[in-house]
Amino acid sequence: MENKKLKIGIIGLGTVGTGVVKVLKNFDNAEVIQAAVRNLNKKREVEVSNITDDPFKVVNNPEIDVVVEVAGGCDPAYELITTAIKNKKHIVTANKELLAKFGAKIFDLANEYNVAVLYEAAVAGGIPIIGPIKTTLKGNTFTKVAGILNGTTNYILTKMEEKNISYQECLKDAQDLGYAEADPTGDVEGYDAMYKIATLANITFHKRIDVNKIYREGITKISADDIKIADELGYKIKLIGLAQRVPGVEDGELDIRVHPMLVSKENMISKINNALNAVLLEGFPVDKVMFTGPGAGEFPTASSVVGDIMQIAGEFGHTDTILPLTRCTHKEMAEQIDIKHTKNKYYISIKAPNSKGTIGIIGTVCGENNINLSSILQKGIKEDNTAQVIVITEESSESDIQNAIDKLKTHNIEINNLIRVM
Ligand code: HSE
Repeated sequence: MENKKLKIGIIGLGTVGTGVVKVLKNFDNAEVIQAAVRNLNKKREVEVSNITDDPFKVVNNPEIDVVVEVAGGCDPAYELITTAIKNKKHIVTANKELLAKFGAKIFDLANEYNVAVLYEAAVAGGIPIIGPIKTTLKGNTFTKVAGILNGTTNYILTKMEEKNISYQECLKDAQDLGYAEADPTGDVEGYDAMYKIATLANITFHKRIDVNKIYREGITKISADDIKIADELGYKIKLIGLAQRVPGVEDGELDIRVHPMLVSKENMISKINNALNAVLLEGFPVDKVMFTGPGAGEFPTASSVVGDIMQIAGEFGHTDTILPLTRCTHKEMAEQIDIKHTKNKYYISIKAPNSKGTIGIIGTVCGENNINLSSILQKGIKEDNTAQVIVITEESSESDIQNAIDKLKTHNIEINNLIRVM
């Protein structure tokens, strides 16, 4: 059978869309025949012969075989993609929010209309991770997927450590250099990482995920002091997206969350710095495997988008069902546990009155709440006559930790910060 040249319609000609058009010029089996943009008058680095400000023209264009959606957001992306599917077009998208919130409906519709929906660029930009989980790692039963899924926050945490500066100072530098957006909320409050771990959990554990049940905490409360003390204790602080089977429960509940963690310097993830991302998978028989690389940017993200397009191009016209391994075949919702039912080791930075017996009170309250301490360290006396005490616990339950914190408060002992330990 002769290969047909794939006709692409692209929605969004921002950084990623521009990269995709540039990279596709290296291939003669696919061409962009139409693009939809928000502002027709904007000057662009690339030319597309047919350009419109109505994205519905792209999804309804009978000439187009594949719709590439790199515009982001859910409105109108959901309607655009579902319309394109109903028009029997294959989809390539980088839209992590759309997949996390509406993935189930989109995948079901795609199965009904027998089209492929590929989204390698939606998780960790240029890192190949969706493809490997769905294909070459298919012989595994996974127990955990975790990683650094947001480059902006990894950049900020890295620079806070290198320059010993506050989060606010570092955010401003990152914005001036173009690493952080003017409104950084999606990145620094953990939403972006939450959408990505939702998709990773879905394909790793073959269960549909309710993104609203994922516990989320960003990096805005991390201080330069936390980073320095963690370093002295042998850890780095990273924003981690984590999804794991609840230990001891067979094929049952999932523990999915995004929050900062102390990561031992011996763990490979601690060495992933600046804007890089990393994804670690644990399972049988592979044991542990880590993927790392650029999680964003014009060409790294275009690498994933064009890779998806080339997969479709390779099969287009040769088979009725393109890329069956990429299809979503599960429908069951995961049982997602609440953070209060999780178990973790904790770093707790405590502000206590400078008085006799304070360390004793901390030890007693922890003991009474089933918390075993791994280390306790007093960092001298501050100018305001308070003592800073750092506690690292052994594995404890989140609800015991919260009870202990409430009890400590009745002794005028406050918590500067609580960070879970990986
Ligand atoms: N804003 C994301 C990041 C990239 O900083 O990693 C796109 O998801």
